Amino acid sequence: MREAIANARVGDEQKREDPTVNELERRGAEFLGQDEAVFLPTATMANQIALHILGRPGDALLVERHAHIMLSELGGPAAHSGLLTIGLQGANGRFSPEQVVAEIRDRTSVHVAPTRVVAVENTHNSSGGRVWPLAEIDAIIATCREHELAVHLDGARLVNAAIASGVEPARIGRGFDTVTLCFSKGLGCPLGAVIAGSAELMAAARRGKHFFGGAMRQAGIVAAAALYALDHHVDRIADDHARARRLAEGLAEAGVNVDLEQVETNFVQIDVGSDRAGAIERMRERGVLVSTTVHPTVVRAVTHLDVADEDVETALEAIPAALTRTAALRAR
Ligand SMILES: Cc1ncc(COP(=O)(O)O)c(C=O)c1O
Repeated sequence: MREAIANARVGDEQKREDPTVNELERRGAEFLGQDEAVFLPTATMANQIALHILGRPGDALLVERHAHIMLSELGGPAAHSGLLTIGLQGANGRFSPEQVVAEIRDRTSVHVAPTRVVAVENTHNSSGGRVWPLAEIDAIIATCREHELAVHLDGARLVNAAIASGVEPARIGRGFDTVTLCFSKGLGCPLGAVIAGSAELMAAARRGKHFFGGAMRQAGIVAAAALYALDHHVDRIADDHARARRLAEGLAEAGVNVDLEQVETNFVQIDVGSDRAGAIERMRERGVLVSTTVHPTVVRAVTHLDVADEDVETALEAIPAALTRTAALRAR
């Protein structure tokens, strides 16, 4: 990837003169089953541009209540696009067509914010990287079409979902109005994302890219990394999933509180009890980095291209040891 970055052919991408960005946008659209794609610095920006072009100020947006758009984008839909965000209670990050229909408001009323946009997150971060089955995605899209709702896919980790479910990303992405894909997660790039959709919507997204301050210059040095990732880092995501499973099963065997059912992709969520900060620190001392989650006693371990089989074995020793100490301190 470093070599691809170093050798990238570049130009001014704002003028659409960067051949590497242009190629990535072509490949990205194809990969996501859409007409066109626009290269952006981050997936947050991709989501925010999508919502900006799909909704109008005063419209309502439906998302799962622990979705990244809901919890981790600083109220962006309200701040940037004037959208009222309504959080649906999900099960494993998913919601049903009935829940969508139940939140559709009377568009003729002069009092209520009309429901206009729905956003799906796949894989769903806060539920532990869980995957939407294709049939459920198709059902949500069909409901949105029937009720004239726009539908966005926050597919920041779409490749994980595709690999886990054995369905091509293009098949998952093609029915949505807009799709976000992030290159700086499992795909292992330093930065970058795309938004994809119809030619008409992507013309609006290109304006959004400037409006949100995401128009760059010789961005081919980054797009080259993303092209490299599409060629070399897609299939290997299965290894991350296998390692997450090995980690989860080993931790469960060691008596650590892990929900094995939750482990569908590259996240392992560990319930460490009330002294979460202490547990994280003790894991860090043993060379294992985990992050917090929205659930107060739960931490998240992630497998990715810099985590090898030996690292999983190290974590399988370090995590139970760190938690044993936590438990011992708690008992005092
Ligand atoms: C589901 C989801 N969408 C979007 C994002 C935003 O990605 P970025 O950090 O590239 O803005 C994240 C980041 O964790 C995420 O988990």
